[in-house]
Amino acid sequence: MDALGASAIPRSARPMDRDLLERALELAELGRPGARPNPVVGAVLARADGSILATGHHVRRGAEHAERACLADHPGEIPADATLYVTLEPCSHHGRQPPCSDLIIARGVPRVVFASCDANPDTCGRGPGQLAGAGIVVERGPADLERRALQQNAGFHSAHLRGRPYVTAKWAMTRNGRFATGDPQRRWITGDASREFVHYLRAGSGAIACGIGTVLADDPLLTVRGPIADRMAVPPLRVVFDRRLELPVASNLVRTAAEVPVIVACDHDAPTAHELVLLEAGVEVFRLPPPEPGAPCLLAATLRMLADREVQDLLLESGPRLLAAFHDAELIDSIAAFVAPFEAPATEPGLALDHPLVARALAVPGEPSGEDELHVALVHPAWNFPGAVPGK
Ligand SMILES: NC(=O)c1ccc[n+]([C@@H]2O[C@H](COP(=O)([O-])OP(=O)(O)OC[C@H]3O[C@@H](n4cnc5c(N)ncnc54)[C@H](OP(=O)(O)O)[C@@H]3O)[C@@H](O)[C@H]2O)c1
Repeated sequence: MDALGASAIPRSARPMDRDLLERALELAELGRPGARPNPVVGAVLARADGSILATGHHVRRGAEHAERACLADHPGEIPADATLYVTLEPCSHHGRQPPCSDLIIARGVPRVVFASCDANPDTCGRGPGQLAGAGIVVERGPADLERRALQQNAGFHSAHLRGRPYVTAKWAMTRNGRFATGDPQRRWITGDASREFVHYLRAGSGAIACGIGTVLADDPLLTVRGPIADRMAVPPLRVVFDRRLELPVASNLVRTAAEVPVIVACDHDAPTAHELVLLEAGVEVFRLPPPEPGAPCLLAATLRMLADREVQDLLLESGPRLLAAFHDAELIDSIAAFVAPFEAPATEPGLALDHPLVARALAVPGEPSGEDELHVALVHPAWNFPGAVPGK
C-alpha cells in the first residue's frame, strides 16, 4: 500500500458499478449540512443484477457511518453476489463510531467498491487493506466519480491535506461589476431566490467571513436563516478581518456574539484598548503573532487557526477589497458569483469585469437563479490537492 493505500487497488470494470456509485453519491448529499464537520458519505448494497437491497448515509457527527446505516437497512443474510458501494473508503479505526471494516467482514460482504480515499493520513488505506486481507474483493470506482467524490468533501480533504479550509468566494454584483446598487430604494442586488440559496451555502460552511468594510457599510448578521437552519448541527462561526480592530460594539455581529461565536482577526500591533471591550462583549480576538521571515500573512494564519478548530469550509462574503486580497494570496478555491440583470453607477464599490476573479467567474456559463444568474467556478478542485488522488 502507498501513502493513501489505494493505488494498488484495481478500478472496477462492471458498467453497473457506475450507476450504483452515483446513487451513493446522491445519498451522501442528504447528509449536508448535518454531518459537518464530518464528511458526507453515502452507501448502497446491491446485487450483481443492480437490484438495490439497502441504502444509507451519514446523517450527523456521532451518528452511525453510511456503511453501518446501509447494512442495518438489510438485516438478513447478504447474498454471495452483493456489492457494498460507498463514496469514501470504509474506516478501520475507533472514533465516535466503531470501525466499519469490522462490521463489513462480520456481515460477510463479498465485494466493496469505494469512490474516494480518506484524506486523513492516519487512517487512509487501512480499511481497504483490512478488507482485502479478509478475502473481500475491494475495488475503486471510475476516475471521474473519484473526482466527484473528492469534490463532494472538498473541505474535509482540504483540512487534512492542506491544513486549511476550502474557501468559496461568494459575491453578488451588477452586470457592470458593482457590489452595491447605489440606489437607496434598492437594498439588495440579487432577488429572493439567490438570497435564499446563500443560506444553503452558509449552512454547509464551518465559518462565514467578511472584512471590516462590509461590517461598517452593511452591519450584517452572517447567520443561517430559513428552513435549512433546522438541519444544521452547529452554526457556522463568524469571522471578521479587521486589521486595526475597529469592529463596533453596537454592530449586529457583536450584539449576537453570545448566541453565535464571532472571531475578529487583527494585526499583531492592533490597538489593545478596544480588544478588552470586544472580549467583554463575548467576541474572540485572533491577533497575528509579530512578523517573522516566512510567517503566514493574516489571511493564511487565520485559515490555519480555523482548520485547527475543525472549520473545513469557509464562505467568504466580503466586499471587493478583501476578495481581491484573498485572490492575490491564492487562497480562493471556488467561486459562487451572482450576477443581477442591471447596472449600478461606476462610483459604487466593485471589481472590474476584467479582474481575474470576475473573469474566472464569467468564463463559466451562468445558471438561472430567479431573475439573476449564478456562476460557479472551481479554481482549485479537490482532486488537484497534493496527495488527493493516489494513482490512476
Ligand atoms: N455584493 C456583495 O456581495 C457584497 C458583499 C460584501 C460587501 N459588499 C459591499 O462592499 C462594500 C464594502 O467593500 P470593502 O471592500 O470595504 O469590504 P470588505 O472587503 O469586506 O472589507 C475591507 C477590509 O478588509 C480588510 N482587508 C483587506 N485586505 C486585507 C488583507 N490582506 N488582510 C487583512 N485584512 C484585509 C481591510 O481591513 P483594514 O481596513 O482593517 O485593513 C479592509 O478595510 C460595501 O458597499 C458593501 O455593501 C457587497
